[in-house]
Amino acid sequence: MEGDIMEVGDLKHNPDDMTTIHVEVHVKSSSTAERSDVKMHVLALLKRHCVVFGVYRWTEFDEDFLTKHVQSVAIVDTERKLIVVLPQPIDLKSCCLSIHIFVLNEDGPSTLTLEEDEELSAANHWLLPAAEFHGIWESLVYDSGVKTQLLDYVSTTIYFSDKNVDSNLISWNRVVLLHGPPGTGKTSLCKALAQKLSIRLANRYTYGQFVEINSHSLFSKWFSESGKLVTKMFQKIQQLIDDKEALVFVLIDEVESLTAARNASQAGTEPSDAIRVVNSVLTQLDQIKRHPNVVILTTSNVTEKIDLAFVDRADIKQYIGPPSVEGIFSIYLSCLQELMKCQIIYPRQQLLTMFELETMGFRECNVSELSLVLRNIATKSKGLSGRALRKLPFLAHALFVKTPTVSLERFLEAMDLAVDKQIEERTQLLNCV
Ligand SMILES: Nc1ncnc2c1ncn2[C@@H]1O[C@H](COP(=O)(O)OP(=O)(O)O)[C@@H](O)[C@H]1O
Ligand SMILES: [Mg+2]
Repeated sequence: MEGDIMEVGDLKHNPDDMTTIHVEVHVKSSSTAERSDVKMHVLALLKRHCVVFGVYRWTEFDEDFLTKHVQSVAIVDTERKLIVVLPQPIDLKSCCLSIHIFVLNEDGPSTLTLEEDEELSAANHWLLPAAEFHGIWESLVYDSGVKTQLLDYVSTTIYFSDKNVDSNLISWNRVVLLHGPPGTGKTSLCKALAQKLSIRLANRYTYGQFVEINSHSLFSKWFSESGKLVTKMFQKIQQLIDDKEALVFVLIDEVESLTAARNASQAGTEPSDAIRVVNSVLTQLDQIKRHPNVVILTTSNVTEKIDLAFVDRADIKQYIGPPSVEGIFSIYLSCLQELMKCQIIYPRQQLLTMFELETMGFRECNVSELSLVLRNIATKSKGLSGRALRKLPFLAHALFVKTPTVSLERFLEAMDLAVDKQIEERTQLLNCV
């Protein structure tokens, strides 16, 4: 029907090369509604609204069905470039809508233990989409479309595998390597990416499985028999892969611990067991990556000296660095908004976004005053990791706020002091090394 909104089923099937807009529909776990009914009501909601500005989330609805069954409806991942871009109006009628309906699994992780009485776990295992991973994607702030690019890469590899494209003719694999300094969100991004893909590909795969391998524990406790344990662990993973309805993500976090062991072994400072374990991990990885429903995610905190064995195996290598000033501003803004929501900062006051400040030419006036203070704090914080930034408002309150509730103005002063303290501590640490 002309002028009506159009829905597509699969993210890669877009008939006329129109922009695809992804809509994520989080259904309440208590709901028993049919997906087709949910979809119908969501389409009607979108039709009523027609035009949205960038990312948008509905959590309250003007009709009973959605109120009863749906937690939220969100237009997601429309931003492709910098974080500070003009939120363009999106006319939903001129787009293809890809609607993803999901329920979160509330169960926490289960451990994949290898021996009945073994208290040390070799891996943690989640069913996706997991309640524990909810919101991580949105909370991570990167410049220049890193997140959407990664998402596009990985969904294309899964799509190619699913279509049985001959990888001798077109070469690609499903191994991702995120590398960069500690605390830049690499582990979180792996979890968020797996969660996102399990939601996006729900039409194709009934389940998502996420297995996080604990590299350190592979070497610690049962060092001498680790080789055998690696084989056992991968046998368990293989069982998950055998279910063709499942999309299986395997995360090997901090691969440098594997490569360090290997190098030490080559230098003769570690027993040759280490090299056996690492080789066994690599062989097993090569085995499982043949299966089309597997994605292997790896991270490394060292950038220069990653073992070539891993670099060569990864097709998608992405450097993840500390956030830019714009990124920092946006992280702080989300922290302050949370504290105002919880009424720890009170009364609620408006803060402008970096984009709004920019359009005002960073001119100082009543409306922009506190936001400009925040920008100065963000500029000063450059170089701190994402992990340090997310901890900063807590430190500011613990160290420099003496009252339970605090005004925004006072809190910004506390943050400024906390940043100074962080920078000072970091410099001291660097001088020690
Ligand atoms: N770019 C970022 N944007 C927002 N939060 C971040 C960012 N980088 C790190 N964080 C925060 O730091 C925490 C730790 O990140 P983590 O994934 O453990 O980093 P890494 O694996 O790189 O050491 C995350 O939970 C997240 O809250
Ligand atoms: Mg990590």
